[in-house]
Amino acid sequence: MSVRSLAICYGTRPQVIKASVLIEASAARWPLVTVDTGQHYDYELNAVFYEQLGVPRPHHFLEVGSGRHAAQTAAVLTRAAEVFEGAQPWAVVVIGDTNSTLGCALAATQMRIPVVHVEAGLRSNDRAMAEEINRRVVDAIGDLLCAPSDAAAAELAREHQPGTIAMTGDIAHDVLRRNLALARAPRDNAAWPLAAGERYAIATLHRAELTGNADALAAIVQALRALPLPVVLPAHPRVRDALVARGLESGGNLHIVTPLGYFEMIGTIRDATIVITDSGGVQREAYWLGVPCITVRTRTEWHETVALGANTLVAPATAGSTLGAAVERRLADGGTWDRGAYGNGDASVRITDAIATLERALG
Ligand code: UD1
Ligand code: UDP
Repeated sequence: MSVRSLAICYGTRPQVIKASVLIEASAARWPLVTVDTGQHYDYELNAVFYEQLGVPRPHHFLEVGSGRHAAQTAAVLTRAAEVFEGAQPWAVVVIGDTNSTLGCALAATQMRIPVVHVEAGLRSNDRAMAEEINRRVVDAIGDLLCAPSDAAAAELAREHQPGTIAMTGDIAHDVLRRNLALARAPRDNAAWPLAAGERYAIATLHRAELTGNADALAAIVQALRALPLPVVLPAHPRVRDALVARGLESGGNLHIVTPLGYFEMIGTIRDATIVITDSGGVQREAYWLGVPCITVRTRTEWHETVALGANTLVAPATAGSTLGAAVERRLADGGTWDRGAYGNGDASVRITDAIATLERALG
């Protein structure tokens, strides 16, 4: 084992989920400094994943909380820099495209600490999304760019990014494969709002672009209520608050529930008839689990899911009038697709191999 420590940083729900496998694979090779920024802090968005997935308590909890992009990113940057100052990691690993990803990567690069970017090379080409800016900046400053797909690796090469590119596959696939046997079916969830065995759609919505647009949100809720099967929506606080503020809580076929734990969520996706989402993670889980998906976005950075026929995009602005027909088409089509676009579920090993190669190259 190396004597120098490796920092692994995360802060939102999907990042805690992905950190579970990354921490385990890295702990055998380096002493770790784990950093939870605290961007997500509610039990349902944070602690439940530590408990279910066996994530060790972080060495540092930055408690940045919620805020506007600048304030949140600045708090992550400042507090992460203090941690790195003390711990002196030889490299810092960041995941994805959130404000936590950007803040931790910037703190490291300003201190000349090599940055490893997990989920590098994804592009939605929608520059109105904070995440698209975050991921482009982190790819530009990263020393090791771990791409989840061949297309993401090719994109990084096409952009002539200076960091080393490694095609590693997607660690979200590792987490799913490892935990699928522990998935909890809706019938085992006491709070499940439907009768056991009833067909349903599972929906998640949390993007700022949607929750901040009152007209689009109201139209989508209307369309969800009118679908020919019940819709269960575990509500991220951002959409819950937007729905409550506009008086758009449950009605018709729509059942709003609290966010689910990971085991409940993957069981609920697995057993669903269709998935309707704006989540990056849920799009891929539907793809791997063979459940048709509708993504309520104009573009996705997970292009392969659409190209392979697993995923259909529906623009938020017109979803009110087009979602129903899109769902009908997907229900009629069903379909099977190649599920190998994001590797074999061994990304955490391939990522740590690439990090070890970086360490040797740095001497
Ligand atoms: C963030 C990421 C997004 C990612 C998502 C994962 C950015 C810019 N966005 O979006 O890329 O897909 O996490 O879920 O980094 N809130 C709570 N409790 C919490 C956390 C948040 O109530 O524990 C509420 C607060 O009102 C907060 C709002 O949710 O203002 C949004 O949280 P924030 O972390 O800023 O963005 P997300 O929409 O969660
Ligand atoms: N997830 C969960 N419970 C929920 C909603 C999502 O466990 O109620 C999981 C989901 O299975 C996936 C991840 O959270 O693994 C996706 O997170 P999110 O949609 O918040 O963010 P994104 O992937 O869009 O960044």
